[in-house]
Amino acid sequence: MISLTLASPAQTRKLARALAVRLRPPALVTVEGDLGTGKTTLVREVLRARGVRGAITSPSFTLAQSYHGREGERLHHLDLYRLSRGADAELFAWDDYLGADAITFVEWPAAGSDALPAPDVRIELDHRTRNSRAARISGEAAFEQGLAGAATEAGIAVAAEASS
Ligand SMILES: Nc1ncnc2c1ncn2[C@@H]1O[C@H](COP(=O)(O)OP(=O)(O)O)[C@@H](O)[C@H]1O
Ligand SMILES: [Mg+2]
Repeated sequence: MISLTLASPAQTRKLARALAVRLRPPALVTVEGDLGTGKTTLVREVLRARGVRGAITSPSFTLAQSYHGREGERLHHLDLYRLSRGADAELFAWDDYLGADAITFVEWPAAGSDALPAPDVRIELDHRTRNSRAARISGEAAFEQGLAGAATEAGIAVAAEASS
């Protein structure tokens, strides 16, 4: 796991761009954190960096929005805040949003935890001050190393931690 301090929304977007170049389909990325911690800010910038043009709306009401990236990959952005565990989650068309050619981002993944495979990348965001956020990111060792290096180069404070 790597821990970062995102000192501003601009730093969150820089982290997103570093993430964007390190993701390859198929990938499942979960994004956890309270309201306003920057989950949508982060995902939206990843989508932009992968070539999505036009409006990128938050899927808080629609549950899911799908796009195409510039390499032909499917990009899915889910927000499960309003999905309840149980019947709702069982009826949800998970398979439509996971596939060999897809990179899938899931805000509020808890409601889908019985249906979703283990994430390739797990991101947790926390409030620090009005404009700063703490981020913890877990993935494969090489992914974490590469991301930590890119974040440092982008001026983001990174603290390495023993993996658990
Ligand atoms: N360091 C930061 N990173 C991301 N967003 C931040 C940061 N500091 C302040 N903000 C603000 O917090 C809000 C985050 O909103 P949003 O991305 O929709 O959060 P979430 O999807 O987690 O509810 C935005 O208004 C953004 O400008
Ligand atoms: Mg959101």
